[in-house]
Amino acid sequence: MKKLLVYLLFLLPAILSAQGMWVPLLLEKQNEKEMRSLGLKLDADDIFSNFEPSIKDAICQFDGGCTGEMISPDGLLLTNHHCGFDAIQQLSSLENNYIENGYWAKNRTQELPANGVTALFISRMEDVTALAMQGVTTGMAEKDRQSQIDKNLAQIKANTKKESFEEIMIRPFYNGNQYYLFVTKTFKDIRFVGAPPSSIGKFGSDTDNWVWPRHTGDFSMFRIYTDKNGHPAEYAADNVPYHPAKYLPISLKGVQEGDFTMVYGFPGATNEYLTEAAVRQVGDVLDPAKVSIRDRALKIMDGFMRKDPAVKIAYVARYASISNAWKKWLGEMQGLKTYKALDKKKEYEAEFTRRIEQNPDWKYRYGNLLPRLRQLYQDIEPYALVRDVYLETMLRNNEILAQAAGLSSWLDTYEKNGEAFFITKKESATAGFASFYKDYRPEVDQAVLAAMLEMYSEKAGSQWGAADLQMMAKEKGGYPALSAYIFENSAFVSQDKMNAVLSKKPAEIVQTLKNDPAYKLWSGLQQYYAANIQPKIQELQPQINLLQREYMAAQMVVFKEKRFFPDANSTLRLTYGKVRSYSPRDAVRYEHQTYLDGVMEKYIPGDYEFNVPEKLISLWKSKDYGQYATKDGRLPVAFIGTNHTTGGNSGSPALDAKGNMIGLNFDRVWEGTMSDLNYDPAICRNIMVDIRYVLFIIDKLGGAGYLLDEMKLVRK
Ligand code: ARG
Ligand code: GLU
Repeated sequence: MKKLLVYLLFLLPAILSAQGMWVPLLLEKQNEKEMRSLGLKLDADDIFSNFEPSIKDAICQFDGGCTGEMISPDGLLLTNHHCGFDAIQQLSSLENNYIENGYWAKNRTQELPANGVTALFISRMEDVTALAMQGVTTGMAEKDRQSQIDKNLAQIKANTKKESFEEIMIRPFYNGNQYYLFVTKTFKDIRFVGAPPSSIGKFGSDTDNWVWPRHTGDFSMFRIYTDKNGHPAEYAADNVPYHPAKYLPISLKGVQEGDFTMVYGFPGATNEYLTEAAVRQVGDVLDPAKVSIRDRALKIMDGFMRKDPAVKIAYVARYASISNAWKKWLGEMQGLKTYKALDKKKEYEAEFTRRIEQNPDWKYRYGNLLPRLRQLYQDIEPYALVRDVYLETMLRNNEILAQAAGLSSWLDTYEKNGEAFFITKKESATAGFASFYKDYRPEVDQAVLAAMLEMYSEKAGSQWGAADLQMMAKEKGGYPALSAYIFENSAFVSQDKMNAVLSKKPAEIVQTLKNDPAYKLWSGLQQYYAANIQPKIQELQPQINLLQREYMAAQMVVFKEKRFFPDANSTLRLTYGKVRSYSPRDAVRYEHQTYLDGVMEKYIPGDYEFNVPEKLISLWKSKDYGQYATKDGRLPVAFIGTNHTTGGNSGSPALDAKGNMIGLNFDRVWEGTMSDLNYDPAICRNIMVDIRYVLFIIDKLGGAGYLLDEMKLVRK
């Protein structure tokens, strides 16, 4: 009876949901049966094959951090608006503001080269664990183990066949218990085809970010170009459109509650197998510290942005990026509490301990893991906290100290490597200045810096090398006065002042900048950090990593009946589930689909987050939705499902049971943002733009319906 209960406890979640980010190479073994029982109509090798064209040939990692997909035989690429944002901004000018107004190329000659953007595809993948682990023995010192593995990996790479235009990458899985090799190809001639205006592509902006119900048309479109042979090449005017081995047909049929869906892409990082001690540290100590710091910085930025539209334009991208993580951490903290993540971890660890107690060999091998991890997390906690506070206050939220820090390694080369070397590095060290100062507003940063210094000092009390900082503040009459002093006297506050310094002789540049008040303030705290915090972290973190690796391996042995997916690591994964509404609180139920009527409910004329283009309003008034409407005449905008996604899955296609594209992943719901640490099928949902909304916007709003001619539309 007890055994049965335990089985139910651990198997039930697996039956109710198919959480996980699965390795495409292993689908047949690990997932195919379950996926078919959930509704999949394909075989595993339709989704991933090393030998035949498969859906994986349509999926790419877009620009390093997002996902994109091929939706035509001519290399048309779809991704999120927020993934294409930087490229679109680069291509924009005051006269041609594609962020503000959107853009649609009227033909291929109007497709705009997006310099520096990349698209990486997987040619094939292999499990190379056995080779990677050759010569690795238990009890080996960690250093020796790593150097043995590194040697093995170099050998594997050397022995792997690839084409001249391909690369090889090998990544650790399951915390370093397994290794997989990927042969990849990276395209570099990517051209911007079009995007809706921000009022659609970013509708709801930061207020709606991480929230359902959602009404954002978060998509943009590019095209991949290749050399004459269809291989990756740098930009050239006479390059030709890419013809992928596979592209995704697009379904106009829409989704129903309970429909099978899968999301295929490049999730960045998750930590699903941490101990209770580790999760408690994130939720109770680190997240709250980071959130409280960003709270202050964001409020200050928002104040300036609302007063002055020019500041708003300059800071909108920076604000979005700082607030994106801030809001996720906040949701994560709350979710861990509300959904009792720590209790669940405790129960799981108790069951782990119960099981190993009954097996002398396990007890011998694994008995120490949890107690030692608990101790190490306790040991590292004060240092991990300073690290986060230091990084957040000194580097991530203020700009002037981050600029100073950014120059430090170049300035150091003067003494270390000599004047000639110093001169050769000048250009690359200062390359980012023009774009930095273009959007820099010292009055904003001065206010932020005052708040950041105050926060550092508050959190440090009498520790963390804060004494000098506190003395300086006292001398000047408070943190705002200290910040004002720095801004009056620093060369980092404007391009002109910086240029004046940079035009001096090398010795003077170094002398001036190293004595700059911004530089000195940062370097004082940095030296404290380097001397007292970093060494402790460098001592403790590898011990934690080692035990976490062993704990991962132990879980896979002790819970034999459970299937384990490896934590996300920016490699290609498949997650699947169902279109599903959810109930976040008593008596509250969120439906699975939003409509254009909801956009109009949120519409605030002239507001920077909730404005709507005139043309969309008139299309809504006349209900001119064409083939994109539902049977009852409404225009779908977004929907949610139980697919287990994370950052990096932005832009990933949502596919139906037959592999047709039905949506474009771009976010998760508020109550479920903790899913990186604790996926809970009851409330974790991913958010996708309905593909019909994407096509509607291209066709009816953008007037670029000709693009649909090269897509394969599935109507029944
Ligand atoms: N939350 C989504 C993601 O994690 C969307 C971010 C972009 N949107 C924004 N308002 N910052 O990346
Ligand atoms: N918006 C996220 C991204 O840029 C995806 C949403 C998530 O984190 O789940 O990757």
